[in-house]
Amino acid sequence: MPTEALTDRLRRPLRDLRVSVLDRCNFRCPYCMPAEIFGEKYQFLPREEILTFEEIERLVRIFLGFGVEKLRITGGEPLLRHGLQDLIARLRSLDERLDIALTTNGSLLPKWADSLAEAGLRRITISLDSLDPGVFHQMSGERFGVERVLEGIAAAESAGLGPIKINCVVQRGVNDEGLVDLARHFHGTGHILRFIEFMDVGTRNQWDMEQVVSASEIVERISAEIPLEPVEANYAGEVATRWRYADGGGEIGVIASVSKPFCGDCTRARLTTEGSLVTCLFAEGGIDLRGPMRTGADDDALREIISSTWTDRTDRYSEERGGLMQIEGTTPKRERVEMYQIGG
Ligand code: GTP
Ligand code: 5AD
Ligand code: SF4
Ligand code: SF4
Repeated sequence: MPTEALTDRLRRPLRDLRVSVLDRCNFRCPYCMPAEIFGEKYQFLPREEILTFEEIERLVRIFLGFGVEKLRITGGEPLLRHGLQDLIARLRSLDERLDIALTTNGSLLPKWADSLAEAGLRRITISLDSLDPGVFHQMSGERFGVERVLEGIAAAESAGLGPIKINCVVQRGVNDEGLVDLARHFHGTGHILRFIEFMDVGTRNQWDMEQVVSASEIVERISAEIPLEPVEANYAGEVATRWRYADGGGEIGVIASVSKPFCGDCTRARLTTEGSLVTCLFAEGGIDLRGPMRTGADDDALREIISSTWTDRTDRYSEERGGLMQIEGTTPKRERVEMYQIGG
């Protein structure tokens, strides 16, 4: 199929697609799925509302035709999706060279890392907010211990899913005292630790600016203990800014989505579990692709929906946040897609 590149109204091409395969998770991180809301009675999507592997494969094939080069599988927790390795194998067979990555909380990797690698997954990002057992419990919802995630990281490493990225969301007063411990732990391992500024994603995480530790403060705090120096980006539009340890102990990344937004280079589209196309992490909603697919739309019709959605795109929320907060005093209150529906 010929590639037809798409650019949005701010001249940003469509290069990355993040696909959420499940809205459930076995963690209850308070900033994403607070346990008091996501209890036993919470109604997650029923099976028939979730895209099937055939539907995901069909859409991904269409997106590849528009120039998408990078796929990231997310959730909720993607490893809870039954048969995920079969989806990876299908996607791998679309293009041997496609960059396919996955973001997970790591708890199920001891079981699945090998089969995911065999199916064609090449790299993985694992979330880990603290090494301190108490803080980890608090930030992940008390269902697993931190050692389980460390076992997951080890399993990913032995399955050859490296270089492994470790994502840590930094919240002032919650886990920021442990940043240097995390840095020391992964120093010299070859894993790339990345610190993410706490963001006002979704509507449920009680975000306020006081809880954000800026990327520059994070770098300062780590560099004071293990000196860091800046590194060039791997590619234009890379989300994380790279730093390396001056002693050769590897690199870290900081994702300054609040203090230094990167909307100008944002080439990411997101596909929700139920098949909506979302053009920004902070969007109010998305454009339904499942409905048309299930009522017989052919590939050309789907292409038309995707192409008009992307070419109309003007999203740049993180760059607008500061101005909106000045007007409204806090993060603007409006409908927003939730983190567990799009997986970051
Ligand atoms: P690679 O460079 O391919 O390894 O991935 P990446 O840098 O895109 O990293 P990843 O997808 O792991 O993103 C890390 C985190 O950065 C996400 O979980 C989000 O919290 C945040 N992030 C990623 N993309 C965006 C974005 O488009 N906007 C904002 N505001 N934050 C983002
Ligand atoms: N701010 C920043 N990062 C977040 N994540 C989830 N919620 C937030 C937030 N409010 C991170 C997760 C995971 C990735 C998918 O997004 O910890 O690493
Ligand atoms: Fe689950 Fe990730 Fe959300 Fe935590 S942040 S509840 S691990 S989906
Ligand atoms: Fe892209 Fe929206 Fe994030 Fe800006 S805020 S980088 S437009 S996803």
